[in-house]
Amino acid sequence: MVAGKISIIGAGEVGRNIAFLVVIKNLAEELVLVDIQKDLAKGLSLDLEDSRFFFSSNTKVLAVDNLKYTKSSNIVVVSAGRPRIPGMSREDLIKFNSEVVRDIARDLKKYAPNSIIIVVTNPVDLMTYLVLKTTGFSHKKVMGMGVSLDSARLANIITKKLPVNISNFNPLVLGAHGKNMLISELSSLYGFKLSNFLSKKELKEIKKTTINRGAEIVSFLKKGSARFAPAVAVFKLLEAIVLDKKELSLCSAYLKGEFSLRDVCLGVPVILGKEGIEKILEIPLSKEEITFLRKAQREFKKKKFF
Ligand code: LAC
Repeated sequence: MVAGKISIIGAGEVGRNIAFLVVIKNLAEELVLVDIQKDLAKGLSLDLEDSRFFFSSNTKVLAVDNLKYTKSSNIVVVSAGRPRIPGMSREDLIKFNSEVVRDIARDLKKYAPNSIIIVVTNPVDLMTYLVLKTTGFSHKKVMGMGVSLDSARLANIITKKLPVNISNFNPLVLGAHGKNMLISELSSLYGFKLSNFLSKKELKEIKKTTINRGAEIVSFLKKGSARFAPAVAVFKLLEAIVLDKKELSLCSAYLKGEFSLRDVCLGVPVILGKEGIEKILEIPLSKEEITFLRKAQREFKKKKFF
């Protein structure tokens, strides 16, 4: 099964890499790549379509500079806006990116009212909330990509200390995609807590590296931020929805009392399927972890100026 139509708003490094995965995996009949730089989108769309043959993909790619072409999309990915530059936190992007994202959300409400939206633009938890409130869409239909990427990074970083097949790990990162990221004690190796295999000091270092990974990448790239792992993380969310996988996934979701959190978007475990967020899984977190998430909620509410 493939989605009828997937639209990606913003053909920057993350957007174009998501587009590449959608095309080579034949995930949609039609992929619409929207960017204010129409020639950029056009050039990328031709290159993307040229890669179809090698994977027998039938995904058609349309390059446009107007959101009206997102009409009747099944899923829309919002990856427009600025990335960080070295020394910036994700929150430093709020002012500029919230203006961009608000305009996009208004258009999506008009042109693609039945779509599911995946937000990637940073600061992602706040931007997810902004899209939800601006569109008025159901909380099941709007999600942000953040903690699944952080979890993937955690798994990778652990393998540097514990040389075990990466797929044997169950990394679990919740909360904010930022400094209030919660590396959960429930992260495990084949169901066994990581503290069975790693010292406190090693765990502390692993957590710190995970939280800083995005900034570390920005500091090396100088221009632009991570693109490959974020794109794969978005692709996995897309795939879970398109294929109605009912897959346990991690994303930023609007909370209405789950984990004692309310009126906030933060990273939590969810079940993803064709309806979007079909369920938020209230896994048993410790009291300390809930307290940490409440702190993330307080900071979210302080930053939310729109
Ligand atoms: C990062 C961006 C996607 O963590 O926030 O690299």
